[in-house]
Amino acid sequence: RHSSDSESEPEEEPSSSEEEKEEPKQETGKSSASDLNTAEKPEEGVKKAVANQQPAGPSVPVCQAASNRPPRKPAVFIPVDRSPEIQEARLKLPILAEEQVIMEAVSENPIVIICGETGSGKTTQVPQFLYEAGYASSNGAIGITEPRRVAAVSMSQRVAKEMNLSDREVSYQIRYEGNVTDETQIKFMTDGVLLKEIQKDFLLSKYKVVIIDEAHERSMYTDILIGLLSRIVPLREKKGLPLKLIVMSATLRVEDFTDNNRLFSVTPPVIQVDARQFPVTVHFNKKTPLDDYSGECFRKVCKIHRMLPPGGILVFLTGQAEVHSLCRRLRKLTVIPLAVFVGGDDDKEESVEEIRKFKKSRKRKKVMALPKIDLDNYSVVPVDEGDEDRDAETDDDIAGSDIDLDLGDGDSEEDEKSDSSLPLYVLPLYSLLAPEKQAKVFRAPPPGTRLCVVATNVAETSLTIPGIKYVVDCGKVKKRFYDKITGVSSFRVTWISQASANQRAGRAGRTEPGHCYRLYSSAVFMDFEKFSAPEITKRPVEDLILQMKALNIEKVINFPFPTPPPTEALAAAEELLIALGALKEPPMMGRLTQQLAAKLSCPISPLGRIMATFPVAPRYAKMLALSRQHNCLPYTITIVSAMTVRELFEEFDRPAVSEEETAKLKGKKARLLQMQRIWAGQGPMQMLGDLMVMLGAVGACEYAGCTRKFCEENGLRYKAMLEIRRLRGQLTTAVNSVCTDAGLYVDPKMKPPTEAQATYLRQIVLAGLGDHVARRVQAEELLDDKWKNAYKTALLDDPVFIHPSSVLFKQLPEFVVYQEIVETTKLYMKGVSAVEPEWIPALLPPYCHFGKPLENPPPSYCPETGRIRCHRPSVFYRVSWQLPAVEVD
Ligand code: CDP
Ligand code: MG
Repeated sequence: RHSSDSESEPEEEPSSSEEEKEEPKQETGKSSASDLNTAEKPEEGVKKAVANQQPAGPSVPVCQAASNRPPRKPAVFIPVDRSPEIQEARLKLPILAEEQVIMEAVSENPIVIICGETGSGKTTQVPQFLYEAGYASSNGAIGITEPRRVAAVSMSQRVAKEMNLSDREVSYQIRYEGNVTDETQIKFMTDGVLLKEIQKDFLLSKYKVVIIDEAHERSMYTDILIGLLSRIVPLREKKGLPLKLIVMSATLRVEDFTDNNRLFSVTPPVIQVDARQFPVTVHFNKKTPLDDYSGECFRKVCKIHRMLPPGGILVFLTGQAEVHSLCRRLRKLTVIPLAVFVGGDDDKEESVEEIRKFKKSRKRKKVMALPKIDLDNYSVVPVDEGDEDRDAETDDDIAGSDIDLDLGDGDSEEDEKSDSSLPLYVLPLYSLLAPEKQAKVFRAPPPGTRLCVVATNVAETSLTIPGIKYVVDCGKVKKRFYDKITGVSSFRVTWISQASANQRAGRAGRTEPGHCYRLYSSAVFMDFEKFSAPEITKRPVEDLILQMKALNIEKVINFPFPTPPPTEALAAAEELLIALGALKEPPMMGRLTQQLAAKLSCPISPLGRIMATFPVAPRYAKMLALSRQHNCLPYTITIVSAMTVRELFEEFDRPAVSEEETAKLKGKKARLLQMQRIWAGQGPMQMLGDLMVMLGAVGACEYAGCTRKFCEENGLRYKAMLEIRRLRGQLTTAVNSVCTDAGLYVDPKMKPPTEAQATYLRQIVLAGLGDHVARRVQAEELLDDKWKNAYKTALLDDPVFIHPSSVLFKQLPEFVVYQEIVETTKLYMKGVSAVEPEWIPALLPPYCHFGKPLENPPPSYCPETGRIRCHRPSVFYRVSWQLPAVEVD
């Protein structure tokens, strides 16, 4: 049975498109890089890898030929004590059939690429294969990188459980947080963590194997790691301590790695894991809904639930707020699962009695008839008269969750007539969701219910949810878009790529034939781009360049990127880093074109080295490096943490669904504005602007014990506050590791800064934010009305404005620095602080244009250079450039 609105005949979902099945190319050996020396060094008694000598069929992985050979006995076998259930589940995974092929390829080649559908078992099983074959047993660990923090944590826990080992042996490390010990044998980490480790130990000597997971996602750090490892592997080979590199991808689109003679001198073998993918029938919508794809998802889930046989439903939406709102609507239809019914901070499950009481206190129309389920056994509460939604996840997003949603939506008939005999068990899934809540999607739903997971893109490849038979795909994804040069960013919801659409559809065919409902027409699908572009080509790269320079890679332009970033992005990044003082300025910089500048090999400066040790963006890292004076460090650490975590405050300008909610939101917004005025401080402190508000908010929250209650009452995002607390701890550790004598201890409850400290902080922020200076357009400069209250920046020709949410929105100081510019209806500056004009030439000479000395000249913009024109001031430098002592060898 197909739902009635299918436009086209159901079509088979192709398991992978032809153009993905790229044949690994024969390496011609014309590699230009001289240090690429991966001369094969076959291990004793092992036949040379067949991989690079045999022509392979289009989709036939070269290594599969190996399976025809008699099985080779592994030299080492470390037994693992798995429970029978785990063992049984493992045996069902497609990758188990390829264990021999994979392990032979790994033993015979320094670099191996494994491609296998999401859910085929790559992430959880390959580390176990390696462990059993002894790769982790003696003085070396198995390292696995993930682009997402959630995957690193959840996969380490999963693998530990499967192997019956503790988190001391199978551990994770994300930023400065983790549970790695001396006994760690398998280590999951984010790709950024491994990059930092390469800075400390270029040869990665504590690893025997490095696995780069989710390489198809082409995250910036994954790409750069593959480039670096292409050099590290041959170096380790030369030293006689071979390192194995395994690149794992969910798609077969790996030609950027295999067909890239700058990357690997010998094309690595590609092993394809044949996932047992069942056919998925794809249904396109006749029409593509313009805006209300969330409502369309709701109707589709209702229809599936009402008309189609049992099987889990997975809905793809774009963001956390959307996910919660759909969960809320769906839960009204059904039951409140006990398992996700949480109360208070500690997520403890409420007793059935309490839930009953709660439900009795609500009045609501009966939505659907449900079977009686034994509460004690099944943790499922049947809907009784007057069930009301209460979002179980107690997430900030759903603070106003007891609003009476009108289920009708013009489609009321079908919504309310649901006659399915199963209740829906609705779970949200997105990357910021707490891990223990995420873990729920992996467990079987309570008997007698139908699982419905409402997810963002995380469910596309990183996490596989068992038992999904129906996929509802809105066709959109929320992404942050950057201007490559100015770094101006905006969040936009855009269409996904065809590859993503196919990945999403594939989620429906893991255990049996399934259906995918695409909420867009086939014509729209044909217009999707084939693949999404690698991240490195789409965002500013200054943090990357700084990390690479810290590795003494000076000629970044010659680096073997799988896909190189655009030259203008490289040039912009180098220019910024030079201006921040992180790179040594090359001679004659001003006269060279941007392209030439990018080719220049500016070495890193001592300041840059310190900056590179902090796990934050270079601008923020500079603030930290400058703050070891006047006891400013605790404040800078807090400001930098808050700016890194972003979005501290609740968004109350969302559309409300009822008058009651509108009033509620208005009240909350007024309360937040009032609090922000208090947090902004008084007198000179106010000039620190939004950054003072951040300090005040974090301080107040910590004084109140950082509770969810305090956050909810005052319009703060609880999750952001927790993350800031964590990051403050991490940055303190980082600062202490650079300045070993600092002995810094960040008191969570810090006192407000003194007036003098607030002034120093403004100078530190100015020095760090550098090019983010803006000057108010003066009355006489007004070109036309669109410039009213506008600011001019060094980077943009267009007028920019202080964001209405800023505490400086009405004050309009002459010179400000901003954290970022976001584009919504206009270009808005967020995170604004006021600065004094005379500080600019003192702290940011590269951004100034020095004219003839005049009597008290007002600084102005130079129209030709776009820089601030002023003369070198006589004011003494109030911020001394005190750096902790560094040893440079
Ligand atoms: O990496 P890949 O996508 O190839 O698969 P995987 O993440 O290793 O997952 C293999 C199987 O383990 C899937 O069927 C997952 O549903 C299951 N799994 C699980 O049950 N619980 C977890 N925490 C992680 C994975
Ligand atoms: Mg995986």
